[in-house]
Amino acid sequence: MIRVFEDLGLLTRAAADYVSDLAEQSIQESGRFTWLLCGGATPRPTFQLLGTKPYKGRTFWAKTHFYWGDERCVPPDSEQSNYRMARHNLLDGVATPDSQVHRMPGERRDYDAAADEYASILPDRPDLVLLGMGDDGHTASIFPGSLAIDEQDRRVMHVVAPEGVTPRDRLTITPSVIRSARRVLVLVSGQPKAHAMGKVFRPEGDEHRAPARLVREALWFADKMAAQEVLKMKLGYIELS
Ligand code: 6PG
Repeated sequence: MIRVFEDLGLLTRAAADYVSDLAEQSIQESGRFTWLLCGGATPRPTFQLLGTKPYKGRTFWAKTHFYWGDERCVPPDSEQSNYRMARHNLLDGVATPDSQVHRMPGERRDYDAAADEYASILPDRPDLVLLGMGDDGHTASIFPGSLAIDEQDRRVMHVVAPEGVTPRDRLTITPSVIRSARRVLVLVSGQPKAHAMGKVFRPEGDEHRAPARLVREALWFADKMAAQEVLKMKLGYIELS
């Protein structure tokens, strides 16, 4: 299902409402809300909105457990760190205890050990995996041609991003974690995403070239600029908000 919004502001408001409603529902059902975050620019305003009133005062933050779907292999205080982005824009504003913030240890030099250890603390069935999509069709740090696309055993792995992407060393969840989630929400914004979105939603295609095809069944929130190619496809599962 793709929901298309006039602009990033409306998309952001809908994403914040979606996360808050799901958090409350998850806590009612299981006593906790487990959420895997992504990096990138698109979710930043959603994090900022959730980190300010009235969202920041909601009681669900105390029972929220944060994890990450991918991380760049840099220290947590690096400007490239996905943890740092979430810390500054969201976590510093809400009442989630630090013991419930489980960042990926991007600074570890033994990448494989870091990935294995992180896999061991990930919930079996996270309530929400939040994802973005790059202009090249990657999602989490699963890039075109990556071994992570076909990984069957590991839930988290070290990958090397294509040349030109910085930093190249990343830790990422594999498709099995995405499949295990109760909900998957993908946020995409801006004209540079339009072509990749087209590649993801056209009937024929290859997830090795556009890994976000792995999450075609997820809920997508896109602004009109990002959705311009898919809007021409007249898909039955697009809703204009
Ligand atoms: C990361 C991400 C990545 C991101 C996309 C989209 O660590 O970079 O988790 O998958 O979501 O690259 O990024 P933008 O929102 O900046 O376009």
